[in-house]
Amino acid sequence: MALRCDLIIRDATILDGTGNPRFTGDVGVTGERIVGVGDLSAASADKEVIATGRALAPGFIDSHTHDDRAVLCGPGCMTCKSSQGVTSVVVGNCGVSLSPGTFSKRPPPPLDLVGDQEGFRYGHFGEYAEALRKTPTAVNTYAFVGHQTLRAIVMGDDCLTRAAKDHEIARMRQYVAESLAAGASGFSTGLYYKPNMHATTEEVIAVAEPLKAAGGLYATHMRDEADRVCASIEETAKIGARLGVQVHVSHHKCSMPENYGRSVQTLALMEAINRTQEIAFDVYPYPAGSTVLMPDRLRDGLRVIVSWSVPHPEMTGKDLADIARGWNMDPVSAAEKLLPAGAITFQMEEDDVRRIMAHPMSIIGSDGIPHDVHPHPRLWGTFPRVLGYYSRHLGLFDLETAVHKMTGRTAELFGMVDRGVIRTGAFADLVLFDPHTVVDRATFDQPTIPSQGIEQVWTNGVATYVGATGMTGAAPGRLIRRNRG
Ligand code: ZN
Ligand code: CU
Repeated sequence: MALRCDLIIRDATILDGTGNPRFTGDVGVTGERIVGVGDLSAASADKEVIATGRALAPGFIDSHTHDDRAVLCGPGCMTCKSSQGVTSVVVGNCGVSLSPGTFSKRPPPPLDLVGDQEGFRYGHFGEYAEALRKTPTAVNTYAFVGHQTLRAIVMGDDCLTRAAKDHEIARMRQYVAESLAAGASGFSTGLYYKPNMHATTEEVIAVAEPLKAAGGLYATHMRDEADRVCASIEETAKIGARLGVQVHVSHHKCSMPENYGRSVQTLALMEAINRTQEIAFDVYPYPAGSTVLMPDRLRDGLRVIVSWSVPHPEMTGKDLADIARGWNMDPVSAAEKLLPAGAITFQMEEDDVRRIMAHPMSIIGSDGIPHDVHPHPRLWGTFPRVLGYYSRHLGLFDLETAVHKMTGRTAELFGMVDRGVIRTGAFADLVLFDPHTVVDRATFDQPTIPSQGIEQVWTNGVATYVGATGMTGAAPGRLIRRNRG
């Protein structure tokens, strides 16, 4: 009997996410799954899309986000991601997760990147998982629990000044175990930041101990991405080796001018480590970073753009140097006056960014910060920028490789079963785009312009975004969890 599908996308150039060469064919979808790939001329469907000359890839997986709260405010909040072809996001990065924990006052930075005290309303990860079920969104969510969040709820303001005591470690470990049982996929740290920097390596190992039994992943914004970047990679490897778990280095970079070029060393180091234990890293395709504004970490000569400021919203989008001049102040005093605030800092070298991106061990993650008033353009542009600028325009790698770093490789590393690939039986997370025109349009001046060339996006078989008309309003996303069995 002839195959009957809900949807057939015909005559597409299929990039299946594995990195294998593209081929022309049809993809059939019924319900949430792909039911056929290849020549489906004998099959029919309720809805058919003729995709001649268009590329069809697995929906992109944003391996590094701070979308913890954005995934709970409806499909409209995900326009920045769906318009790039993203169908799954990884939340809870850099030690910052919206759960578990509640606060009676504004949480210390950088926790306020994901919400103020109103946002942190999930005392246990199970409540966060339940909220995702009740108010789903356009993308799937894969979650880590963050060490910074745990330290802040367990230790209060002491998280800023000291290592945890044994009874505090025991409570944090309990939270990690509970969260993993309730649907979290791993544990993240942000050892660079004040609420996390006083945690010793031993504290991290002790708190993260439940990862081993659960097969969870350890992801880290490392202690130092500048002078001591290699020592930080070694610390990360040590944590993974002691726990017996896979580790993931977040937004790998060599920060600050004196470290430009050192990605040659860091990549060689990670290759060597990867011979004895599993390690990988994500990268965003820009030479500027973004996080909370930290006056004590400012450096002369590096351009800083203010991405938000609670007391001075009128300064959003302006250069800190111009604000300081206008206020007749030095930049550090001006930064203090802007707090709490966010910043975009030009602290990397383009050659390093390209070398890291082109390395076979890397995957793509945006590190976009969705609640910033004037966000870093990576929030809206990351995936089309890799496809259109780095792959098509610069030829840094072929389109197959670009797609693999955003789909199949990510799903494999993170244990997202039946995702990140186009094959019969896989979930129908799909993006249809024009490979000749796809590119980002968001810039540091105008950071919220949607990309061009993304034509249609489906999550779990349901259309979430149509290039011509925008978000469909559908919310087929769900909590997905790591499984590498
Ligand atoms: Zn980070
Ligand atoms: Cu981050």
